[in-house]
Amino acid sequence: MRRRAIPAYSSGMSTATATSASSAVKHTPSGRIFNFSAGPGALPEEVIRQAQQDIWNIDGTGIGIMEHSHRGKLFDRVLAEAEEACRKVGDVPASYKVLFLTGGATSQNFMVPANILPDDGVAAFLTTGYWAEKTWDEVKVYSSKCYEAWDGRASKHAHCPGDAELKYAARPVYVHMCSNNTIYGTQWRTADGGVRYPKMPEACDTLVCDASSDIFSRPIDVSRFGIIYAGAQKNVGIAGTTLAIVRDDLLKPVRTLPTMLRYDVQARDQSRHNTPPAFAIYLSGLVFKWILKQGGLPEIHKRNLEKASLIYAVLEGSKFWKGHARADSRSLMNLTFRVAPDVKNAQQLDEQFVKEALKNGMDQLKGHRSTGGMRASIYNAFPRDGCVALAQFMRDFEKKNG
Ligand SMILES: Cc1ncc(COP(=O)(O)O)c(C=O)c1O
Repeated sequence: MRRRAIPAYSSGMSTATATSASSAVKHTPSGRIFNFSAGPGALPEEVIRQAQQDIWNIDGTGIGIMEHSHRGKLFDRVLAEAEEACRKVGDVPASYKVLFLTGGATSQNFMVPANILPDDGVAAFLTTGYWAEKTWDEVKVYSSKCYEAWDGRASKHAHCPGDAELKYAARPVYVHMCSNNTIYGTQWRTADGGVRYPKMPEACDTLVCDASSDIFSRPIDVSRFGIIYAGAQKNVGIAGTTLAIVRDDLLKPVRTLPTMLRYDVQARDQSRHNTPPAFAIYLSGLVFKWILKQGGLPEIHKRNLEKASLIYAVLEGSKFWKGHARADSRSLMNLTFRVAPDVKNAQQLDEQFVKEALKNGMDQLKGHRSTGGMRASIYNAFPRDGCVALAQFMRDFEKKNG
């Protein structure tokens, strides 16, 4: 990644305007605090610094990245490099297209069936959380014959099912999964934190994966999937683009569709059938290059494992803290926990924890309304120091209030 001398990150921006936090909040010397947001999530510092520069004037063109034509030479390069780096990071086979789409991961809830599920065709859904529930709800626009081969609602989505728990019925055109459940803090994972691929039904080789909250957080075998998609705002970059990696045989739609909804058109026109979210694509390119510079997915995975284990270690053996996820499904990206319900004033203590954490420079720790408690999102770019700080803060909080 190109680096030039640029002013300090906080230059021109007071710490008060840099965050919503009050002046009582402890800041790091750069003026930043630890951002545990579930998305948009923390970006790598060097990516932000590079973007700061390129917003003003990219490659000495005298024009900022956001002002360049999406059909010009500069953006040709930016787009080609973003795709190339993405392919390198994910070791994406040549038989897959890398698309930068719009409409967020949520739009893939209709784009996938629109393109690959025939009228009243059958698809099977592994409903492991809030976002997977939304995907299941939306497919009904296209077919009433789909079914859930797993439904985790009754067990509060506390784990991802083992193969024996999957109940496949009629042969599906595809199986849909969500690899990491952002809200409940569970992930399809092996004991060593690697990707766990669900058993597929006989004669079905199209696994569709919403990987919005864990894409490129660990090595992945793209060839196991038909389509992988992810809203960019967690591990890929910023909101505005959605990465979709689509196997070639799935590009041509099964029905007549509006042009913008067709994967084959997006592939043919290199994700710029219309004006694309050029800045978001540019930023994704920087993030992919940053991942490669760190040592690629094996190194990123090693760091993610260590970061998560610092915090999970606090839950282990503690009677004060209670994790939401079952141990074998604990997410390395979103860690959900609360003060154990049998501790006196547990709910009040949860609220107190979030407030005090903010004063200590740790923001966005409040859990989603459907789970309550706390959630620490520690995506690829989230620094190890923040995990150390949170683990220590949790220990201190338990000592004071336990
Ligand atoms: C797993 C998952 N899927 C889908 C979404 C929705 O993404 P978007 O806002 O890009 O539509 C999110 C957002 O947090 C998510 O975490």
